[in-house]
Amino acid sequence: MFITFEGIEGCGKSTQCAKLMEHFIRQGHDVLHTREPGGSKLGRELRRILLHPENSDLAPASELFLYLADRAQHVASIIRPAMEDGRTVICDRFADSTVVYQGYGRGLDPKLLHQLNDVAVQGLWPDLTILLDLSPEIGLRRALTRNLKENKANTEGRFEAESLEFHGRIREGYLTWAALNRSRFLVVDAAQGPDQVFASILRGFEEKGIE
Ligand code: TMP
Repeated sequence: MFITFEGIEGCGKSTQCAKLMEHFIRQGHDVLHTREPGGSKLGRELRRILLHPENSDLAPASELFLYLADRAQHVASIIRPAMEDGRTVICDRFADSTVVYQGYGRGLDPKLLHQLNDVAVQGLWPDLTILLDLSPEIGLRRALTRNLKENKANTEGRFEAESLEFHGRIREGYLTWAALNRSRFLVVDAAQGPDQVFASILRGFEEKGIE
């Protein structure tokens, strides 16, 4: 099974990815937990470029192709081999981030982005995508506090430096895209505490018939 997590900055993806991984391990799955950007060796270098605030002048198309390069390498060298070994893969962000951030956020055509994603993933689409839905006011505040605490603002803060209006477009973009891809998406209210969010995820699994 291939499961991805999506959502705005500060929506709690890392916490929920870790909870889901523990849950699957308890059930006896062999789990790979990975992320984008930065899940492969090349990806770690691309992540540094993509998230560094000094690159605030990246053209939308340059940003797009760097994310796609990260994804193509990640799928080819990490995700597909893990799936072929029968492992369950949990990925923190994947192709939908490109449609939403570069599409609804930067103004590129979401349909074209979906096609370009297909070049990068070569048919390997997630079985399920969990969207942690949260208002940008709460998410951005959480993300900025975390970056300060973890001393990341100067190295990974490029998107957190975008306006509240930008993050509002990202939230709305996710909801629109999830509605267009209803069978693959599970939308969860991320304003609750971490345990309640996880309980909602498990309830969503039951509704979708996932063990
Ligand atoms: P994160 O790993 O801390 O969530 O940060 C990744 C950032 O990169 C986040 O702000 C969203 C952005 N992003 C895109 O704009 N397009 C993409 O395709 C991906 C994977 C992430």
